[in-house]
Amino acid sequence: MTAKDELLRLLRQTDAYLSGEELSRRLGVTRAAVWKNMELLRAEGYTIESAPRRGYRLTGVPDSVSEAEVRAHLKGDGVFGRTIVSLPSVDSTNEEAKRQGDAGAPHGTVIVADEQTGGKGRLGRRWVSPPGSGLWFSVLLRPDVLPGEAAGVTLLSAVAVCRGIRSLTGCEAKIKWPNDVVIGTKKVCGILTELSAEMEHIHYLIPGIGVNTGNESFPPELADRATSLYLETGKRVSRAALLAEVLRELEALYDTYGVSSFPEEYRSLCVSVGRRVSLTRGGRKITGTATGIAKDGALIVMTEDGEEIAVSSGEVLVQGIYGEKV
Ligand code: BTN
Repeated sequence: MTAKDELLRLLRQTDAYLSGEELSRRLGVTRAAVWKNMELLRAEGYTIESAPRRGYRLTGVPDSVSEAEVRAHLKGDGVFGRTIVSLPSVDSTNEEAKRQGDAGAPHGTVIVADEQTGGKGRLGRRWVSPPGSGLWFSVLLRPDVLPGEAAGVTLLSAVAVCRGIRSLTGCEAKIKWPNDVVIGTKKVCGILTELSAEMEHIHYLIPGIGVNTGNESFPPELADRATSLYLETGKRVSRAALLAEVLRELEALYDTYGVSSFPEEYRSLCVSVGRRVSLTRGGRKITGTATGIAKDGALIVMTEDGEEIAVSSGEVLVQGIYGEKV
């Protein structure tokens, strides 16, 4: 831990003032070094009150996704987040996770960035990820299963995000199959899972998660479809706290289910089930009603022609969600 991180840790521990002398003694550095590190923290957005003869007191914390800020929320000795790579800007946290994975980074490594310049969405789309407005992160997993058995991790990730959002904000976050997290009828989070594998072996698996946290508005073409935690609650949500919460939930789910199965909770959270849906198969548009989720995570649809089909990938439009009329 650097002197700056250690200073922050000490300031966090108490609401009382800490004198420069005490800080210098506890950190084992000079008063001048305490002051220099205090200035560095202020430059990062921490508000530190200083009062003559009393000392220093932490009164405000920035909405930062720095390693120190995430660690402050990640209590306990979980594996997810034991290694954290936090970057001010990156092309895509999934791409960085692949680079880290190829270089041998351990299971549970988390890559998080304030901004993504080449954020990726599902089906080759772009994921706009400006600084400060969202939580953009990826988790590097090294499960011991065959590539075909790995699909459940996306579903687990969606459940983990719902739990994290609910516990931090109280919002009723739900899932649009397979892995959009929605509040009401609008999308608040998207998940893109990528993997590196041979036929018989997974090198690594990367769920990449993007949550809109701080957006105050969306452009007109997205306003009907997208929302943010700020728009839903009127409050600022700490991205570091949300990341820690989602990591805790994801690790608990992973420990229970691995990546080959998913919890019953997924079904109960899935807003697609029971609604009219439409999709395209082999160039043909199919409409029907989603009736359930199969054991392998596929969406079960009863078509208007009375045929039951299992949909395991692709885009499914759902009546009423994102303003769709099916
Ligand atoms: C989607 O709904 O289309 C999926 C969006 C996934 C976005 C996240 S943000 C963090 C990670 N890095 C990326 O480039 N994409 C995912």
